[in-house]
Parts: sequence; C-alpha cells; structure tokens
Amino acid sequence: MSTILAIETSCDETAISILEVRASRIKILANEVISQIEIHKPYGGVFPNLAKREHKKNLPVLLEKVLKACGHADIDIIAITHGPGLEPALWEGIVFAQKLGAEWKKPVVPINHMEGHIVAGLLSSKSKIQNPKFPVLALLISGGHTELVLMRGWFQYEIVGETRDDAIGEAFDKVARILGLQYPGGPEISKLAEKFRVTSDKLQVTSYKLPRPMLHSHNFDFSFSGLKTAVLYMTQKIPNLSPKIKREIAYEFEEAVTEVLLVKTLAAAKKYGVKSLILGGGVSANTHIQKVFKGKIGKELPDMKLFLPQKRLTTDNALMIALSAGLRLLRGTIRMTKTPGTLKAQGNLRLAG
Ligand code: KG4
Ligand code: ZN
Repeated sequence: MSTILAIETSCDETAISILEVRASRIKILANEVISQIEIHKPYGGVFPNLAKREHKKNLPVLLEKVLKACGHADIDIIAITHGPGLEPALWEGIVFAQKLGAEWKKPVVPINHMEGHIVAGLLSSKSKIQNPKFPVLALLISGGHTELVLMRGWFQYEIVGETRDDAIGEAFDKVARILGLQYPGGPEISKLAEKFRVTSDKLQVTSYKLPRPMLHSHNFDFSFSGLKTAVLYMTQKIPNLSPKIKREIAYEFEEAVTEVLLVKTLAAAKKYGVKSLILGGGVSANTHIQKVFKGKIGKELPDMKLFLPQKRLTTDNALMIALSAGLRLLRGTIRMTKTPGTLKAQGNLRLAG
C-alpha cells in the first residue's frame, strides 16, 4: 500500500489531494481546492504573479486541512505538477513539494498536468479507476490546450491534432469578454446558449452565422482565433447588442466549436481504430459538448466507450495528479526524484514530441 500526497498549482487553482493506492484499488483520503477565480475576475483572465502569491498563501492552509482530514496518515510519495502551466505558479508548488520531500525524507514525483486531465476521466462516480481499452483517444480542451492525444498503451502518447493558435477555453473566454460577460467565459456562454435553445423555436434559426474553422482541413488540427475575430467583427456591426442577440451569438459560437470538436474527434477515432475516448479539461464540463458527443458516438461509433470526467474533476484539481502518480506506481513507470531541488517548472511541457 502507498499513500500519495499530490499538489497542483499550474494555474489559478491551489489544490492538494491525498490518495491511498492498494493493489488496483484507490481510496481518496482528502481532496481540497481553493479557486482564485474571484481574485482574477477583475483582470478578465489569470494574472501569473497574483496566482503565485495566492498559491504561496494557500498551500500551507490546504496542507494542514488535508493532513487533518486523513488523520495524519503516513505519506509515502509526494506528486507535483511540473508543467505545463504558468511558470511562476508552477514554481510555487514545486518549491513547496521539494521542501516537504526533504523534511519528510520522501520522494517527489513530477507529473504532467495534461496526463492528469486524461486520467481524471477514468475515475468512476464510485471512486474506482476504470480500465480503458486501447487504443485510447483523449480530447483535452481547456483554457490553455486543445489537443487530440492518441494512446496505444499506458503513458504512450502521440499528439495527433492540436490548436494552431488559441485554445478553445481561451476562445470561450475572449468571446465572453466581447459580449460583455465575466471571466471565466465558458460557463457564461454556455448559460446564454442554453437560454436561446429553450426560448427559440424548434429549428433554432439564427441570422448570426459563424465559420467552422478547419472543419475540412483533412487533419486533426484546430484553429479558434479566427472564430473569435469573426465574433468581434460581427458585434462591431451591431449598434445595440441586446440580451437576445447575445444569446444568439453565444449559441452560434457554442454550436460552431462543438461541431468542429466532434467532427475532428470522430475522424481521428475512426482513423486510429480507437476503442475508448476520454474527454478532459475545463471545457469538457460544457453540457452541450457532452450531450452532442454522447449522442453522436452512440450513433456513429457505438463500440467506442466514452469517458467523461466528473464535474469537479473537469477543472484543475490535485486528485487527477494523485491518480496519475497512483497509476504510474501500479504500472511501475513512476519517476522518483530523491535529490531535493532537481525539479524544474516547465511551462510548455508536452505529452509527446
Ligand atoms: O482546465 P481548466 O480549469 O484550466 C486550464 O488548465 O486551462 O480550464 C479552464 C477553462 C476556461 O477557459 C473556462 O472558460 C472553461 O475552461 N470552461 C468552460 C466551461 N467551464 C469552464 N468552457 C465551456 N463551458 C463550460 N461549462
Ligand atoms: Zn488544466
């Protein structure tokens, strides 16, 4: 049996989680997150040095809380996100983890944040790790990433498609700002789009048409920057951006991004004979995206199993980092760092070349 304490500080959530791993069974002993959303809201996005300062303040508070929650269980391994993310924010967690490692004389294990988002989808509502059939395809959609990652086996990654400019979450946030909505924009756009769906007639006809970027590009890459610009130009031509027009634009934007994500993902799944599809990242909390994926996969690829993360695991958390360390431990692919001070923050860390 091993007990893992995991720390996550890559962006604007400070999180610590404690997980017990016994054979292939896991038990969540503690899981805490402090979100900084309210602090960053006035800036309309995450302010890296402010995030760093908040992490520094929050980490000791959270540590005390999780250790108390697990009855001060003996920790065997400390897992820490070392990238990708905002470097000042990552560093704060790394320094804290390394200090704990030295104090407790325990190994510190670096974990890739995106691997965390992938394995988060495997945790069932009953807190069991589900085994996906390979090949696995992961669609990672967050504020910093839009990637289609192919896994032919555990921890073997190939990025088969990614965004060439803005990440999808970034596009949600920027379009929200254009429409005068607050940060983070994803949930706000989603609410407005849903309002339009329930209030409009059955056909949901809108005169506000947006492009579906790279839909027919014959590869699995994405581009969302043009879509954001299209919204900007569209709104500049509208003298009075009424609530009704905002709902229609939010709806059309959500429809456009969902269609592109779906078409690309299904095409990649077919090409690589994928047996399991995992959705992960903040944008995977989007109810419309989830609904469309469930419906279309059921029809077009009924033999492919779809894994959706629990709502609390869509956005950043430390449980996914602990899960990743736990799975690596079970499969003998864990990287222990015994020398204190050897880990580095890697803002642009990738899952594969
Ligand atoms: O994974 P995450 O918490 O942080 C990163 O690692 O980036 O993702 C945050 C992003 C933000 O852009 C936010 O607007 C978006 O996820 N998001 C959503 C929804 N909830 C959060 N986007 C669309 N629909 C949602 N319901
Ligand atoms: Zn994330």
